[in-house]
Amino acid sequence: MPVICEPDDSAARRLAAGFREHAHVVRTLRAVDERLAADPEELVVIIGPSVELTGAITFAAARRADHPHVGVVLVRERVDVAVMGEAMRAGVREVVPDRDFQALMDACRRCWEVSRGIQRAGRAEAAPSPGRDGRIVVLFAAKGGCGKTVLATNLGVALAEREGLQVCLVDLDLAFGDVAITLRLSPQRTIVHAVPMAGRMDETGVQSLLVRHETGLATVLAPVSPGESEQISGPLVTELLGMLKRSFDVVIVDTPSQLSEHVLAAMDVADRHLLPVVPEVTALKGLRVTLDMLDLLGYPAGARSFLLNRADIKAGLSVADVEKVVGAPATVLLPHSQDVPASVNRGVPLVRQDPGHAFSQAVGRVALAVTEGNEAVRGAARRGFFRRSKAGRG
Ligand SMILES: Nc1ncnc2c1ncn2[C@@H]1O[C@H](COP(=O)(O)OP(=O)(O)O)[C@@H](O)[C@H]1O
Ligand SMILES: [Mg+2]
Repeated sequence: MPVICEPDDSAARRLAAGFREHAHVVRTLRAVDERLAADPEELVVIIGPSVELTGAITFAAARRADHPHVGVVLVRERVDVAVMGEAMRAGVREVVPDRDFQALMDACRRCWEVSRGIQRAGRAEAAPSPGRDGRIVVLFAAKGGCGKTVLATNLGVALAEREGLQVCLVDLDLAFGDVAITLRLSPQRTIVHAVPMAGRMDETGVQSLLVRHETGLATVLAPVSPGESEQISGPLVTELLGMLKRSFDVVIVDTPSQLSEHVLAAMDVADRHLLPVVPEVTALKGLRVTLDMLDLLGYPAGARSFLLNRADIKAGLSVADVEKVVGAPATVLLPHSQDVPASVNRGVPLVRQDPGHAFSQAVGRVALAVTEGNEAVRGAARRGFFRRSKAGRG
């Protein structure tokens, strides 16, 4: 059903009248974008008469590029040749005069049919393609508060927005996932929606799970209520990540602080393990135990990158102390800054808000480590059941 963009209430009611309660009415073009990002099945956008023409034209041109299946119907107080010409050049499909109920209905129907056709053709084309072969990176720390979620979200945005890559962030912190709140996304769909697809997941199904951030970053969000997480199995995680890898250049996995079955499933298919730590003894102890576990489970040390977060915090251990415990140099040092929690509270990742910030620049170096990472890392973990069961689970 259409999305109607119209700031004026009575005009909005008039436009929505023919769709009963099915139309989705919003006031700004930005809100239309959010709606399109949230629901890939939205095919028609009606731009009402009170929306300024230039904005409407820019919007239509941009959506023709990034959502070619979405059709725009422009409603104007007066329809003249100049408006028609400009609108058509921008890719607006239909221009109809305000208060012409039948014309609006007909235009929407035609528009919807064209959109369906484009969408079907796109899917048919997409289906047989061998797809991408993206990289999977897992962030893990045995101690909470090391910055997994902050790093996962900032890294996702940095790779999607700055590097222009197709990136998906999966929130595997199934009980207490913070990705949605950190990015201000509404969890209309979550990983729980993958449960009925188990064993027969395809790209279309996986696409339907995604919630998009305004930067283009795709996310698979954690369940809304912690109880739902019990429905998610390890094999489902393996299947999901395998599918995502075919559609995205980089798949980032945020995790809880335990080496759960889900986390191990992700570690198994990952190309790189990003291990954030902060310079405190408890966090270091957690990292030491994690490294021993990962060794025991047969994951290659070359797959690991150490991220020393809040490296310069007052009274923290020195970088040398940390590296001694880890037995390897930190790949990236990230500075401590009050701007980080402030950005979390605002719901805007710091790399987006302030790309020149020292923290954002450090995230850029993590992005480099991820995109340039060592090829030998692939196929990191070919571990038998025996080894896993012997090592137990965290
Ligand atoms: N570099 C940093 N400087 C200041 N605060 C930070 C930094 N990194 C993370 N934090 C803060 O630490 C807290 C824990 O971070 P979070 O990413 O949620 O950790 P985790 O997901 O590993 O539990 C958050 O309040 C976050 O804002
Ligand atoms: Mg977290």
